[in-house]
Amino acid sequence: MSMTVEELIAKAEQTQQLTEDELVLLLTDPAAAAPLYEAANRVREQYVGPQVELRGLIEFSNICKQNCLYCGLRRDNRQVPRYRLEAKMILDFGRRAAELGYKTLVLQSGEDDFFAPERLGPVLQELKNLGVALTLSIGEKSREEYAALRVAGADRYLLRIETTDKELYEKMDPGMSWDNRVRCLLDLKELGYEVGTGSLVGLPGQTIESLARDVLFFQKLDVDMVGIGPFIPNPDTPLAEAVGGTFDLACRMMALTRLLLPDANIPATTAMETLQPDGRMLALQRGANVVMPNVTDTDYRKMYMLYPGKICLNDAPADCRGCVTGKIHGIGRSVSQDQGFRRRRKSGGMN
Ligand code: SAM
Ligand code: SF4
Ligand code: FES
Repeated sequence: MSMTVEELIAKAEQTQQLTEDELVLLLTDPAAAAPLYEAANRVREQYVGPQVELRGLIEFSNICKQNCLYCGLRRDNRQVPRYRLEAKMILDFGRRAAELGYKTLVLQSGEDDFFAPERLGPVLQELKNLGVALTLSIGEKSREEYAALRVAGADRYLLRIETTDKELYEKMDPGMSWDNRVRCLLDLKELGYEVGTGSLVGLPGQTIESLARDVLFFQKLDVDMVGIGPFIPNPDTPLAEAVGGTFDLACRMMALTRLLLPDANIPATTAMETLQPDGRMLALQRGANVVMPNVTDTDYRKMYMLYPGKICLNDAPADCRGCVTGKIHGIGRSVSQDQGFRRRRKSGGMN
């Protein structure tokens, strides 16, 4: 006889194992959402505790040579004015973020070859002097480039697989290869980065079965961080008319990821908040333990427009820091004071 939703969730909590079919059931059964969120919250408390890691996000270039169908930064989008921050300005934003208390900075951009390791490396070296951990999210590079950036001071790397459906991936990211994306993730791991990946939930043509396989993929790779976001259609892209993902399905993906990778760092993503007021705080109560407030100046925020409805367009870095800290305290949690590397825990958590 097949197991009930409650039995499946209990099994996942005890063994960190679910099959593809079981994941599909928990992603779809209307009765599964509430117990799944409660379980993910329990596991998060047990394995990573009440503290929330804050990472300061610097969006340092919106120039991209790729043409992903879903993304506002795609190279064929002529509607967005392009910018590249000068090294001095990146350092300036980094310094101010460190002064606000950030212990990790995330440097994100389009795939912009201008920022080759020879240019970005010295910036990383200087940022390291601020005593922060550094995360990069700048797309696909060669193993040699990843190695050079690691030597220059990068500690972590975020590269979403977007979808484990290879055919869908190559349709959504024309000219890119799914195998190369996996190669990047494996190289990053071998080079000693903490590695983050994740999915875009709600891409046109994406099946629930493939989402279930995404969660199994995160677990198989034993990644350190998993960022799950709903796909939000952008009117300036070929997917303008697409339906997009839902907050609920993105939360279920995130909660299941917490059950199967209990000690991973899992952000409450900005796209979740775009779909649902206070979505990040709900996500923090459904398995997430990280928030990535923007520390880029407002002038640039509106040009880094992946999708419409981006939050905090007119808020200064200090406003976002205060806002997020207040909300975290409001749900009875606290802000972590360390760099927030993954703390590996054996099954059973901190006890
Ligand atoms: N260029 C790098 C890359 O693609 O890995 C880093 C920057 S890219 C803008 C970061 C993430 O934005 C992508 O991995 C993708 O999942 C997300 N993204 C892009 N367009 C989006 C959309 N329309 N809705 C939600 N997320 C989106
Ligand atoms: Fe470029 Fe990344 Fe957007 Fe793709 S998702 S178009 S690689 S910025
Ligand atoms: Fe930016 Fe709330 S996080 S104002």
